[in-house]
Amino acid sequence: MTVRTLQQVIPSVPTSDGAGVKLRRSLGSQRGLTVDPFLMLDEFSTDNPDDYIAGFPAHPHRGFETVTYMLDGHLLHEDHLGNRGDLKSGGAQWMTAGRGIIHSEMPQQTEGRMRGFQLWVNLPANEKMKPAWYRDIEPHEIPQVTLADGGTAKIIAGSINVAGVVTDGVITGHTTDPLYLDVDLPNGSPFHYYLRDDYSAFIYLYEGALQVGAPGNTRPLTMQTGAVLSPGDQITVTADNGPARFLLLAGKPIKEPVVQYGPFVMNTRDEVEQAVRDYQAGVLTG
Ligand code: CO
Repeated sequence: MTVRTLQQVIPSVPTSDGAGVKLRRSLGSQRGLTVDPFLMLDEFSTDNPDDYIAGFPAHPHRGFETVTYMLDGHLLHEDHLGNRGDLKSGGAQWMTAGRGIIHSEMPQQTEGRMRGFQLWVNLPANEKMKPAWYRDIEPHEIPQVTLADGGTAKIIAGSINVAGVVTDGVITGHTTDPLYLDVDLPNGSPFHYYLRDDYSAFIYLYEGALQVGAPGNTRPLTMQTGAVLSPGDQITVTADNGPARFLLLAGKPIKEPVVQYGPFVMNTRDEVEQAVRDYQAGVLTG
């Protein structure tokens, strides 16, 4: 049994995207630093409508997946095919852009809190050009389990085993075998998760403080900070000085070259240039 240690801290940095939405980017903020298969993680968290009201007007994607998870707020998703989906507090959307999607994500509120995350998950070469696919996930569809040592976990993707009972999240069976947990721990509670030694793992702490690692060999993680974990078959974290809330992301590395240009993530420069040409010619989506 090898307990994973905190290998690298990735602070989130303030940035803006879309038409000027203020957010904090951890994964994806430093060039070349990704946690294969994860490319980017943004947190948006504000009570000020000026920070979010402009939203994300129509824009393209090719070659990867976007996962939007809302803690508070209401976004409307629309795409070039006429699909519409409401993203409300506690809900999520898993979108596989594949060969192409042109979509918008616009706030449906003019006041109040907007809070959530967008994660980018890479696709292997042989899936980058597959047709676009969605799963709109209603809040009640996300399983929540009570953990052995206290606290709860919501399971958006992957599965969790608590005292021999396995609970599956909404998304399973993808090639990268993603795990996406939203964990809420009371003060002092440890949390253990067992996974394959060769999977990548990343924690993003969005409330409170954590100690990461086995007792006697821990490193602290502060709020709004990401942690890349070392290889190992067990993750152990403990809420420190109060309750803590964090995302735990893990998955099977793709181990292919990544060439990214804005919203296009391919394997080669030629493929990225083709995506730009396809978008300009109006044939990105097929
Ligand atoms: Co988008």
